[in-house]
Amino acid sequence: MNRLKGLTCVECGHKHEISIIYKCERCKGSLDVEYYYNEIFDEKELFALDTFREGIWKYSSLMPVNEDMNPVTLGEGNTPFFRSSKLIQKLGINNIYLKNESVNPTLSFKDRPLSVALTLAKQYEVEKVITASTGNTGVAAAAYAARAGIPCEIYIPASTPQEKQMMMEVYGAKIKTIEGTFSDAYKVAGETAIANDWLNLTSTFLNPFAIEGDKTLAYEIYEQYGGVPDWIIIPVGAGPLLVSCYKGFKELQLAGKIDSLPRMVGVQAEACAPIVEAFKKGTKVEPWTKSGKSVAGGIADPLTTYSQDGTRTLRTIIESNGQAIAVNDDSIIKHQRLLAEEEGVFVEPSSATALSALEKMKENELVQKDQSVVCVITGHGLKDLDVIKKEN
Ligand code: F0G
Repeated sequence: MNRLKGLTCVECGHKHEISIIYKCERCKGSLDVEYYYNEIFDEKELFALDTFREGIWKYSSLMPVNEDMNPVTLGEGNTPFFRSSKLIQKLGINNIYLKNESVNPTLSFKDRPLSVALTLAKQYEVEKVITASTGNTGVAAAAYAARAGIPCEIYIPASTPQEKQMMMEVYGAKIKTIEGTFSDAYKVAGETAIANDWLNLTSTFLNPFAIEGDKTLAYEIYEQYGGVPDWIIIPVGAGPLLVSCYKGFKELQLAGKIDSLPRMVGVQAEACAPIVEAFKKGTKVEPWTKSGKSVAGGIADPLTTYSQDGTRTLRTIIESNGQAIAVNDDSIIKHQRLLAEEEGVFVEPSSATALSALEKMKENELVQKDQSVVCVITGHGLKDLDVIKKEN
C-alpha cells in the first residue's frame, strides 16, 4: 500500500510529490506530509499496528518512510507519564501530569524526529547529514547518524552548553561553532546542505519528514492518559513539537479514537519570545531583535529570516484555543529545582519553562482547578549544568 499522498505547502496549499525538498517550490512556505488516511485506517487498527516493533516505531504506518525500511533506532519513545501529586498540592490544580522525554536515549525528545530522519537518510542513501542546533537536535543527530553509519556535521551557537557539545563529539560528529544565534547557525547549515546535496536535519519546520516523529508524543499521551487532556504545555523554539503533537491528536480524531482535541500551550523565555509577542499583539510572528540571552538557551530561537515558522506554530496555538506564555529566568530556575526536589525529575532549564508556564496560567486564572494538564519535560538536566554550577 502506498501510504504517502504527498507534501502540501502550509502557506499556499500547493501539492508536491514525495521527495527530499524543504520548501514549497511556489511560495517557499513550509511543507506538511499528507497520508492516505482512509486506506491506512481501513486496513489496520491504529495502535495494533507494528506490535513487533517498540517505541515510536509501533506507529510506523503513520511515518514518512518506506514500510520495508529497518528503522534506525536506539529505543526512543515509550517514555514515562505520571501524575505529579506534590505539584498538584503546590499549584492547587488537581490533575498535573509529567511526560518525561528526558529519558530518551540521548536525553531529549529530539530522538523521536532524528530516528525518523536517519531512517530516511538511509532510505535515500544520502552521503552525509547536517544540522543546525541549540544542542539537543545536534546530540540526537550525532547519535543516530553514528548508528546509521552516516557522517554528520553540526552547526551550533558558541553559547551551546559544553555538556551537549561533548556528547556530539563523543558520538563522532563534526562540530562547527558559530558566533551568533541559532538563526545564524540555521543559515550556514542550510547553505552548506544545499551546496553539497547533504540531508538537512535542522529541527525547525525545514525538514517535513523528521518532524513526523514528533507526532508520536501525541499517540503516547493518548494511550498513557487514556484520552485527551485539557491542556498540553510545551516549550517552543520554532515549535515543531507543539505543531506535530497537535497533528497527532488530529490523526487520532480522524481515526475515530477521540472526539475532542487538547488546548496547546507554547512556552518561551521572556528574553527571546517572538511567538508569545505575536500572540499578545494579535499579529504574525516577527523576528526577535532584542538581546535574547536566557538560561533557557535550548529554546532561544529569534527566528531571523524564517519567522513564518513561528507563525505556523502560532496558528496551531490559536486553532487549539491555546495560550502562548513567556516566563522569566528566576521562575525557570525555581521550577527546575522544584521538579528535582519534589518529583525526582532533573530537567534542563529550557524544559522547566513548562512548569513555570503552568504557575503563570494558574496565577492569571487561565487554567481551572479541575482541568487536566500535561507538562512535557523535553530535555535532561545533565545536558545543561551552567545554572546548577553557578548556584553551588
Ligand atoms: N525543549 C528543549 C530542551 C529543546 O532543546 C527544544 C529545541 C525545544 C524544547 C523546542 O522544540 O524545536 O519543537 O521548537 N531545541 C532545538 C535544538 C532548537 O536544536 O535542539 P521545537
